[in-house]
Amino acid sequence: MKCRKCALKAAIHMPEHHLALCKEHYLDWIPEQTERFINKYDMFTRKERILVAVSGGKDSLSLWDVLWRLGYQADGLYISLGIDAGMHYSRQSQAFAERFAAQRNLNLIVVDFKETFGESIPDLSLRTHRGKGKPCAVCGISKRHIMNQAARDGGYQVLATGHNLDDEAATLFGNTLQWMGEQLLRQGPVLEAGSGLVRKVKPFCRFYERETAAYALLRGIDYVYDECPFAAGSKSIYYKNLLNRLEADRPGAKLTFYLSFLEARESGLFAAHTSRETVQLNTCPNCGQPTTNEGLCAFCRQVARVQV
Ligand code: AMP
Ligand code: FES
Ligand code: ZN
Ligand code: ZN
Repeated sequence: MKCRKCALKAAIHMPEHHLALCKEHYLDWIPEQTERFINKYDMFTRKERILVAVSGGKDSLSLWDVLWRLGYQADGLYISLGIDAGMHYSRQSQAFAERFAAQRNLNLIVVDFKETFGESIPDLSLRTHRGKGKPCAVCGISKRHIMNQAARDGGYQVLATGHNLDDEAATLFGNTLQWMGEQLLRQGPVLEAGSGLVRKVKPFCRFYERETAAYALLRGIDYVYDECPFAAGSKSIYYKNLLNRLEADRPGAKLTFYLSFLEARESGLFAAHTSRETVQLNTCPNCGQPTTNEGLCAFCRQVARVQV
């Protein structure tokens, strides 16, 4: 197959876009498309300071690379969760993030969970969800908390994550199976700032996972290949597999699912549900971050349970 732009041999074929591109044109195409999504969804401008949450994986490191190439003011944030399983998953991921930043002379903020809160995520999780086995729920709450805190402390207007289309379609699928109105209302490329929460954006939400993987590979970005060892058997992976089967039969199905959801929501579906603007938020007396709880926020409750 030949590149649509120069007729050289294509490095990637994207049947979902009826497009094939050579390496050089693919490496241009991803940043061009990213810029288009940033503008289309009003994510941020070159005047704003952006904190990119990087896990050491292909999506978030490629995102940071693209924003840097496009001339945005983007610093990185790596949260060390203290996951030792899977060949020291956290340590490995951190090394990839640090090497990436050093090679480009970029600023990476590292928050070490254990140093800051006294215990690693798996240990904290064992105490708070004893017997439940998986630390993913505790981890999710903690990451969101730390990301917002770090963005606020550092004076960043925007927090960017590397979620790709496969992530977004799987989340959407899960929320749709149970018609989770409030979650559906909040899911999208941008979640506006409000009451102490910084704006959250997902500039890669329209790229398939194989597209971000191809970008990392062709750009020569080294990233951690392994998934978090606790991810195996998760609902999200199950939904991704289902959607991959659908996509194999109908190229473009995932993108259509996601984009038609955004359109439907834009035209008022789910509008009766509450949004971030209308939810009553209180201030956590311990950390000062917004919470729907009265008293300590979900994160501080978690940590407090350990400290008593
Ligand atoms: P995940 O929830 O692991 O699929 O990750 C989704 C996004 O969250 C990634 O693309 C990153 O932007 C961010 N992220 C995940 N883990 C970390 C971490 N340890 N430190 C900073 N950001 C992270
Ligand atoms: Fe948090 Fe796996 S449990 S990344
Ligand atoms: Zn070409
Ligand atoms: Zn709190």
